[in-house]
Amino acid sequence: MSSELTTAEQAALTSGGDFWHTTPVERAGIPAVTVTDGPHGVRMQASSGDLLAGVPATCFPPAVASASTWDPELLRRMGEALGDECRAQDVAVLLGPGVNIKRSPLGGRNFEYFSEDPILTGVLATEWVRGLQSRGVGASLKHFAVNSQETDRMRVSADIDERTLREIYLRAFQRVVIKSQPWTVMCAYNKVNGVYASEHHWLLTEVLRDEWGFEGLVVSDWGAVVDRVKSVAAGLDLTMPGPDAEGDAALVDAVDAGRLDAALLKTSAERVRKLIEKAGARPAGGYDAEAHHALAREIAGRAIVLLKNDDDLLPLPADGITVGVLGEFARTPRYQGGGSSQITPTRLDDALTEITATATGPVRFAAGYTADGDTDEALLAEAVEIARHSDVAIVFVGSVHETEGADRDSLDLPAAQIALIERVAAVNPRTVVVLSNGAVITTKPWDEKVPALLEGWLLGQAGGSALADVLFGRVNPSGRLAETIPVKLAHHPSYLDFPGEHGHVRYGEGLHVGYRGFDAQDREVAYPFGFGLSYTTFSYGAARASVTATGVEIRVRVTNTGSRDGREVVQAYVSLPGSRVRRAPRELKAFANVPVAAGETVEAVLTIDRDDLAYWDTRLGRWLVEGGEYLVAVGSSSRDPRATVTVHIAGDPARIPLTAESSVGEWFADQRGAEVLGKAFASATAGAASDSPIAAMTADPEMLMMLGSLPLSRMAKFPGSPLRAEALDGLVADANS
Ligand code: BGC
Repeated sequence: MSSELTTAEQAALTSGGDFWHTTPVERAGIPAVTVTDGPHGVRMQASSGDLLAGVPATCFPPAVASASTWDPELLRRMGEALGDECRAQDVAVLLGPGVNIKRSPLGGRNFEYFSEDPILTGVLATEWVRGLQSRGVGASLKHFAVNSQETDRMRVSADIDERTLREIYLRAFQRVVIKSQPWTVMCAYNKVNGVYASEHHWLLTEVLRDEWGFEGLVVSDWGAVVDRVKSVAAGLDLTMPGPDAEGDAALVDAVDAGRLDAALLKTSAERVRKLIEKAGARPAGGYDAEAHHALAREIAGRAIVLLKNDDDLLPLPADGITVGVLGEFARTPRYQGGGSSQITPTRLDDALTEITATATGPVRFAAGYTADGDTDEALLAEAVEIARHSDVAIVFVGSVHETEGADRDSLDLPAAQIALIERVAAVNPRTVVVLSNGAVITTKPWDEKVPALLEGWLLGQAGGSALADVLFGRVNPSGRLAETIPVKLAHHPSYLDFPGEHGHVRYGEGLHVGYRGFDAQDREVAYPFGFGLSYTTFSYGAARASVTATGVEIRVRVTNTGSRDGREVVQAYVSLPGSRVRRAPRELKAFANVPVAAGETVEAVLTIDRDDLAYWDTRLGRWLVEGGEYLVAVGSSSRDPRATVTVHIAGDPARIPLTAESSVGEWFADQRGAEVLGKAFASATAGAASDSPIAAMTADPEMLMMLGSLPLSRMAKFPGSPLRAEALDGLVADANS
């Protein structure tokens, strides 16, 4: 059988056969393969009627939670387990991870994304992809790119400057592509600066393939393709879902009419064929559902962030106390968000059952509010009564709806839940609040009334047992915030420009996303990026930094000064005082997640890649490491530096070419430019009378300062200018020679 495909077969291969399969080409012996969501479980559609009902699979913690572990090793293990479940279901590609940056806490899909920081996102996603692909199953890095909102997601144009795009929104994609070569990248629905991501040649071909060396296949988000011909021309290989006979025919016509280069369609079809061949090599397999549930529990336990723990109220003793468990979410857990990532779990733990199983004393429950999160006076009164007569009250509250397709409109808890917290705290000073939410919610001012607060995110199917593990101290919390919790929404850097209107959203805060913006504006936050308490305490020694061939290595000794074993997440934030370009006050560049036994000291080693020190220079159109004395603050959160060290970094050779449009100041700031221009001024002045305008201009230092902002071309036009327009080309050539 010929393996040379006809144009029609090539076109068919580049669109799906149905919702979840590629198109088989029987004549050429090419079978169909299955792709499915993703990212925190394997969502195999169970019946043709219901898109969202899946075959039971382990619902691991969604990315909002797994990212809060700050543990790449755990993410790798999660990827491996997902790979095993894919094999068991004959899935070739799992549609994840989602590495879009959490630009606004209102983002409806924030629960599916890792962080507001590109390095944290990139490091974790890289390991997830490595784990998955180690099982012979492909990842789909999504949604490429700048898909940080749900409002008008299929049409909106993310209007963004290139430096912000490169440094914040593309950086995680770049890292994952370079370090783990995902089999596929999924293009986003939205436009980027006016062009659909699915038709964006610069993104899909020039950046992704030519610059980053991506070798895999670009698949569309489901329904993202508007015009097949434009998409293939831009570098999109596989349009999903299918079938799309009309689009296939349009491709054939375009090739026949010479409107589309036949080689492009052929290349795309070959990429699809290669993916199918690769997938065919994976062995079938099964998986141990109990072991995966245990892994889901381990990750969930490590994801919980202890935000507050006055007087060491937590952990609770299992014996000798009466416990009031209050809030419907203790019984009916919120454990994942809605939309394409929704998993039918193999089983589901709830906190009420797990707390009851752990505590030896009486545990009493009241729902406190309705299943929809609304107020019900009788339920509230019952909860308050139980709280009044319990040694400890644990209040479960959280967000009610979080789903793909819609952004949130508020960060606040429903009023019924705030009322429950406040009324319970008023009668029981030993009140613990447990939050379940897929993106941050505001905690001010009610958190001041409670001594203990756990951020429990959406924790997947084992969240209930993981919460009991932390509440009773079987697990010492080590989760850290991967996103800032603001005092209020209006403080957030994205606030004024989210979610845009009339088809455009302006990324107005630029580089200052998340903590970068809070820090730049010196704004108080409720809980900072990187923050999280432990049941033990850690002290830091001095930090040492050394420049290596590939970057910087930081070493710091961390001592567990408490009486419980624990984990510290050591974070390195870098700044360059006196930088020649605008920068955030500090940026996360590396972290290390280290277990430290009680009373022990370990040396944490953090590695910063030199590439991660680079900024995107818009004048040169490339990454540039600026030379200088970099300040590295090593600490326990973005606002808790424990040790600082300065390291000298040699800069990349770079010179901004001078032009006639460069200003006098820019000419003088450049060594060669200063020589050339200085000479030109001197010779003009030499021939001029001492009271001429030329002499006055160049002799007076203040006048020279004022002239600093004048482009040379404009200066040449001034009457009596020391520069003549005809001389400019020569000066420019001379300065750049
Ligand atoms: C989502 C993707 C998902 C795809 C397939 C889209 O609506 O944006 O993340 O992978 O559907 O379900």
